[in-house]
Amino acid sequence: MSSEQQTSLQEKQFMHKIKAEEKIEPKDWMPEKYRKNLIRQISQHAHSEVIGMQPEGNFLTRAPSLRRKAILLSKIQDEAGHGLYLYSAAETLGISRDEMIEALQSGRAKYASIFNYPALTWADMGAIGWLVDGAAIVNQVSLQRTSYGPYARGMIRICKEESFHQRQGYDIMLTLVNGSPEQKAMAQDSLNRFYWPALMMFGPHDSESAHSAKSMEWKIKRETNDDLRQKFIDQTASQIEFLGLEHPDKELKWNEERGHYDSGEIDWDEFHNVIAGNGHCNRQRLEHHIKAHEEGAWVREALVAYNAKKQAKQTEAA
Ligand SMILES: [Fe+2]
Ligand SMILES: [Fe+2]
Repeated sequence: MSSEQQTSLQEKQFMHKIKAEEKIEPKDWMPEKYRKNLIRQISQHAHSEVIGMQPEGNFLTRAPSLRRKAILLSKIQDEAGHGLYLYSAAETLGISRDEMIEALQSGRAKYASIFNYPALTWADMGAIGWLVDGAAIVNQVSLQRTSYGPYARGMIRICKEESFHQRQGYDIMLTLVNGSPEQKAMAQDSLNRFYWPALMMFGPHDSESAHSAKSMEWKIKRETNDDLRQKFIDQTASQIEFLGLEHPDKELKWNEERGHYDSGEIDWDEFHNVIAGNGHCNRQRLEHHIKAHEEGAWVREALVAYNAKKQAKQTEAA
């Protein structure tokens, strides 16, 4: 068999597995583009979890009570954990953690643009948990069925924690809307600022998405950007109503025939602008990551030294 024939046979077997809903595992043969596509998506996802800790981390010292502080702290720690699972999942595809971090810090790799918006008030801790983690869940629930085994399994665990994140955010909003008029106004302002960027988290329209078609065929993605966004729009409408807040989308209207809400158009210029690195906090987020990474170098060095010592002892004992 020529190597070309072999590749096409392997490709056939690969597609057969995908169609049969079997998971692709790290040691299985996979097309190079599938591998690259996954590395891009999983590492981007990992970076988002880690960079996403920053806007909330800023509010740890300003939480209004000990209880709120403890909740926010554990939520942020969860996000660090999500980053770790995802970096590990990406490593099974043959890229190192150092390479991924380098790609992030040099600006080659992307992370979710939503984290380039500033968190201005305590109400933003509510809006972020409710809307940003909420949008992430819609996406991640569908990724539990993604075709790459380690990614799918990571998502199952992550989703359990994300639903707690969303509830804690919504709980902050509920408390604020039932508080003073100033607190309710703060909640409204947060909703106004985070609603549209949350919709942007689902990415460009399907017709404009560069990675969509192939990702759907390989079952890396299980639902399209627009379908997922629609789900989020539908579920959020009643949540806004329950809070007694005004909906930021003035064109939002229930469409009986479709069984979904029709909505206004996203400001795509803003979307592309933030992706291009011109968001409020793009530079600040990366600078902070680099600083924290450098300051943590001693921890990594100590770990390596400890492991070397342990190993030396074991070899000696053997
Ligand atoms: Fe997360
Ligand atoms: Fe989260």
